[in-house]
Amino acid sequence: MRNPCLFLVSSLFIPTFFLLIPQGFCGQIIGGHEVTPHSRPYMVLIKTDKKKICGGALIEKNWVLTAAHCTINNKTQIILGAHAQNKSEPGRQIINVRKKIPYPCYDQSTHEGDLQLLQLNQKATINKNVRLIHLPRTWNDLKPNTKCRVAGWGRTQNKSPMSNTLREVTVLVIDRKVCNDPKHYNYNPVIGLNMFCAGNLKGGNDSCNGDSGSPLICDNIFRGITSFGLKGKCGTPQGPGIYTRLSKKYTDWIITTMRGFV
Ligand SMILES: *[C@@H]1O[C@H](CO)[C@@H](O)[C@H](O)[C@H]1NC(C)=O
Ligand SMILES: *[C@@H]1O[C@H](CO)[C@@H](O)[C@H](O)[C@H]1NC(C)=O
Ligand SMILES: *[C@@H]1O[C@H](CO)[C@@H](O)[C@H](O)[C@H]1NC(C)=O
Repeated sequence: MRNPCLFLVSSLFIPTFFLLIPQGFCGQIIGGHEVTPHSRPYMVLIKTDKKKICGGALIEKNWVLTAAHCTINNKTQIILGAHAQNKSEPGRQIINVRKKIPYPCYDQSTHEGDLQLLQLNQKATINKNVRLIHLPRTWNDLKPNTKCRVAGWGRTQNKSPMSNTLREVTVLVIDRKVCNDPKHYNYNPVIGLNMFCAGNLKGGNDSCNGDSGSPLICDNIFRGITSFGLKGKCGTPQGPGIYTRLSKKYTDWIITTMRGFV
């Protein structure tokens, strides 16, 4: 069988030398506001321990989509219908992970393919605080300046603890050319076509640590997954957030993979 990762490897061969310096993960909500409780019922809090949290999206009653770099183990709790981390709320459900399936071509050094499916131990009960989000059916590239929003329980400042409540911020899509220029990522790593760069070029609006895996929603369509940023520089002009783009290729992988387990 053809190795599905080969194309990716060969296409990245030339810029590889740029990619050896590791980038920190920076997946928090900077500059946003607390959402109306339960107004984002597809949001999933993925809690492995106090410091290791991620966001995710409920895409089927027993499937969550998140980032491949999120730590998932047998202690990981999938919390549905959450607003505040520290109290129980009506409709809230805590479920364990049956199986984690990172995207097979995920590459830690380039951040390519930073998406992961989690099959849950049981099906979620859909209620007013717990709902599914649709996968995209449009996969065109987003134009620079498209308005998107991202929510999460991550840090609200670079050194702050995680947020107790779900927060959200508006971010604008940034041209890849600008994102890759020497004032920003400088091709280290390459911000390629499978990623979106989004934030605010003046700084201030960003995701941060703990927001990784959270969905990026643009014009009410689920378009991306919070992936990384410059370590310790959430919300700075030089390090806007990077999101895995939900391309047709990735969407097809998600659908095919879930179908294989029904
Ligand atoms: C739980 O532990 C088993 C046995 O060590 C392992 O195979 C499985 O991948 C773990 N599950 C998760 C979700 O990490
Ligand atoms: C939850 O955390 C918030 C902020 O950290 C605090 O103000 C509140 O008292 C806590 N509530 C409970 C029930 O622990
Ligand atoms: C920054 O986020 C705030 C709150 O979400 C929003 O009102 C504002 O328009 C955003 N600014 C930009 C440039 O996206």
